[in-house]
Amino acid sequence: MKIYRAKDYKDMSRKAANILSAQVILKENSVLGLATGSSPIGVYQQLIEWYRKGDIDFSHVTTINLDEYCGLPPSSKQSYRYFMNVNLFDHINIEPENTHVPNGVSPDAKQECSRYENLIRRVGGIDMQLLGLGHNGHIGFNEPGSAFEAETHCVDLSESTIEANKQYFGSAEEMPRQAYTVGIKTIMQARRIVVVVSGESKAGIVRDALFGPITPQVPASVLQLHNNVTLVGDEAALSLL
Ligand code: GLP
Repeated sequence: MKIYRAKDYKDMSRKAANILSAQVILKENSVLGLATGSSPIGVYQQLIEWYRKGDIDFSHVTTINLDEYCGLPPSSKQSYRYFMNVNLFDHINIEPENTHVPNGVSPDAKQECSRYENLIRRVGGIDMQLLGLGHNGHIGFNEPGSAFEAETHCVDLSESTIEANKQYFGSAEEMPRQAYTVGIKTIMQARRIVVVVSGESKAGIVRDALFGPITPQVPASVLQLHNNVTLVGDEAALSLL
């Protein structure tokens, strides 16, 4: 695992965006696995800036997002589809039909999971997966206890995730209790993985995930078994390493 130390959030975002843009420059039809949450927003802002300067072309890129809340339509401001449109897709020259997020309002959860998994296979798998890290070690919405063999599935969100994400919903009651997530097995099949972590509140879980025992109780610990992971963290998030 390569670890890049960044000064702060902006520096972390710039370093991670450099890695993603190099991927797209070297392979114009890259399949990028993308994440939501506060950690990657700066990465997306940096990519938009470089796109505007003419340095990156997304016209042949395909994106596969990690997760989506069950029950939220794309028009919902809390949906991850909405997040991705607003924070990245609406500002770059990616073809909308090449951007994929699980369909939160699919009437058939099982079918939606196999559709998404087949889609990932059909586009040739993920070249580079961008990941954030939940405070409980979740990646995507693979909560503690998730099987390492899981493919795309529907999960019950843990109390700590509801606690962390309720800020986007007004109250915990309004937050969906379930979400679709690409599974750990699928994440591990990505050719390269880039993890972004920022802030002191992530320091403990960064240490546990990367240097603690490999266990489903800390889903991100599985990344120790992947042969091409780059962690980009700011000083605060890496302070316990
Ligand atoms: C959410 C997302 C994850 C993300 C995590 C961390 O639960 N499903 O993909 O990594 O939050 O979010 P943040 O970057 O805001 O700490």
